Amino acid sequence: MRLQLSCSDRRISFSCFTFTVLLLLLLCHIGQISGQKSDSAVAVVENTDGGGDEEEEVTVDEEEGEEGDLEVVQPTDEWQTLKQGAAVPASSHVRLNLQTGQREVRLGEEQLKYWTQEEHREQEEPRSSLCPEELKQAMKKIKDEVKASSRDTEQEDSVASKYRTLEELKKDMAQLELLVETDGQIMKRLLEQFNSSNSTTEQRLTILQELEYLVHQVDNAQVLCSMGGLQLMLQGLNSSDFRLQESSAFVLGSALSSNPTVQVKAVENGALQTLLTTLATAQPIHVKKKVLFAVASLLRHFPYAQRHFLSHGGLQVLSELFRVDGGGVLRTRIVTMLYDMISEKEMISQAGLDLALDTAHNERVRQYSQVSLQGELLEEGWCGLVPQLLESTEHDYREKALRALLAMSPVCLDQYRSDSSLLGLLLSLRDQYQEMVQSEMILGEENGYFSEIIDLIDALQVKMK
Ligand SMILES: *[C@@H]1O[C@H](CO)[C@@H](O)[C@H](O)[C@H]1NC(C)=O
Ligand SMILES: *[C@@H]1O[C@H](CO)[C@@H](O)[C@H](O)[C@H]1NC(C)=O
Ligand SMILES: *[C@@H]1O[C@H](CO)[C@@H](O)[C@H](O)[C@H]1NC(C)=O
Repeated sequence: MRLQLSCSDRRISFSCFTFTVLLLLLLCHIGQISGQKSDSAVAVVENTDGGGDEEEEVTVDEEEGEEGDLEVVQPTDEWQTLKQGAAVPASSHVRLNLQTGQREVRLGEEQLKYWTQEEHREQEEPRSSLCPEELKQAMKKIKDEVKASSRDTEQEDSVASKYRTLEELKKDMAQLELLVETDGQIMKRLLEQFNSSNSTTEQRLTILQELEYLVHQVDNAQVLCSMGGLQLMLQGLNSSDFRLQESSAFVLGSALSSNPTVQVKAVENGALQTLLTTLATAQPIHVKKKVLFAVASLLRHFPYAQRHFLSHGGLQVLSELFRVDGGGVLRTRIVTMLYDMISEKEMISQAGLDLALDTAHNERVRQYSQVSLQGELLEEGWCGLVPQLLESTEHDYREKALRALLAMSPVCLDQYRSDSSLLGLLLSLRDQYQEMVQSEMILGEENGYFSEIIDLIDALQVKMK
């Protein structure tokens, strides 16, 4: 109470604010100490909606960590693979690596920033561990106070002696703002460096790596767009250096993933054409892989982009890729992409039976109806291409191929029936998997995966009868 009374006295208000700041810092510090204790009580929460989202939330689970049976992974600034059931400290950055299907963790952005700060500040007093958000808030109040008092010129003399404290605080504030760069500031700096004619290719590659990390956050990806970052990434795709092409495609793909705003912006910026051109012309296969990732992210749940993808000869480009990819990695990704597009469209039209009154849904149905996927698949020869993926030795590739073959069966059935090598392949694969299921049963290791593949083969054979 006494504190409030003295605070209302303008003449000593600055020292009063100093005190408030110190108080806040102390509270922050206490908060941190108690926060550290509960670090072991932190576990990763499974993402239940799973719709292609690469980010997962990390929350505190008080009950689970009480005993030491959870393995707690200490994240570093490098991505590391997370074992099932492992726990991570709160605010760690967890993502699903779509390439490996593994969960990965690294330091959350906040932690990463502190970590970098720590390096620069080793000689200084150990103040950086205090929470900057709170200090910022307090500083903001001081700023307002300065404005108010500078209007009040009569009092200027009497508070003159206090100004030094204030100046010091302002300096602290400026320092703090420098230290705690927001993601927006970081991206602005990175983009400027990227765009600078002085930067070397190596520097640009490092910048792209940092950007790729940042744009996993939906807001950051949108900010990147508003800063003209999309254009720079598209220029990167056009680069003659394939490493720049690859990394630019990776940033684009990550920014586009589950981010409708960015998807729209990208199409408006002509990303589709540039991506398709790059896909058709880029040389090393790992570049094509990343470009394909960006294309798939752009098309996902975006019927407008899908329609234009088809009308710009997208399936033709994909079929070229399919034909030249002997290894099967690209083939599988392409087939998965086709499967996703077919099932997306199907799901929308099926849901339509229940949601006929929803206008947004009607619009979606209308847009998907303009995606003339089926006819294009037939024309570009996909009914004959996808079966080739069955020749792969990878179970996973075969499974993807079978799912796609089933999804395509409404348009391809006649061709399947006259494809004697497909018929033979299905028979021999069925025998092979039947055998594997049996030997698994003998060993008592049955996990159901091979039975699942048999079910897919059966379903396809039933359709083809
Ligand atoms: C490039 O570097 C030179 C000399 O180091 C400097 O004068 C110039 O301003 C820089 N240009 C850009 C665009 O940063
Ligand atoms: C990149 O630099 C060019 C010219 O130097 C400028 O016109 C453009 O706005 C810059 N783009 C970004 C995103 O900074
Ligand atoms: C990429 O290159 C093509 C042809 O050289 C050009 O038409 C296009 O505008 C370029 N795109 C970007 C984003 O620089």
